[in-house]
Amino acid sequence: MSLINLIKFNQLGDDRGGLVSLEQNKNIPFDIKRVYYIFDTNEDAARGYHAHKNLQQVAICIKGSCRFILDNGITRESVILDKPNIGLFINSMMWREMHDFSSDCVLLVLASDYYDELDYIRDYDGFLMVSEKNDPSVK
Ligand code: TYD
Repeated sequence: MSLINLIKFNQLGDDRGGLVSLEQNKNIPFDIKRVYYIFDTNEDAARGYHAHKNLQQVAICIKGSCRFILDNGITRESVILDKPNIGLFINSMMWREMHDFSSDCVLLVLASDYYDELDYIRDYDGFLMVSEKNDPSVK
């Protein structure tokens, strides 16, 4: 099964312009406790390089484009986000990296919980140790 789980949002726009609505437990599959956005990213900057123990997120590139890499410890997949009506669902225990930000990129992220540094796994080797790669129930 692909790691790339895209959610297509209804476009409610009309001839005046675009509109997309995001609602918790409707088109966003969790309670939304936090929203943050990444913008004005420096050329050649890459972000992420972590996994979360419990947090779930949906990332939407509402302007411009960027590329995500998702990695569950076994496989690694890449996807370009460049549409304001497409969200990338990122489950817990998924290593993520963000690359190739366009200069106009605005990346909106909805998160299932408040910011908690203790929920982060920032060391890739440490992630592999606890990832599906080492989970006997997944084999
Ligand atoms: P970081 O996790 O490095 O961002 P990214 O994964 O996009 O590379 O976050 C940068 C800093 O901002 C770090 O000190 C943690 C802080 N931060 C918050 O305080 N609240 C938040 O919701 C987020 C996402 C980050």
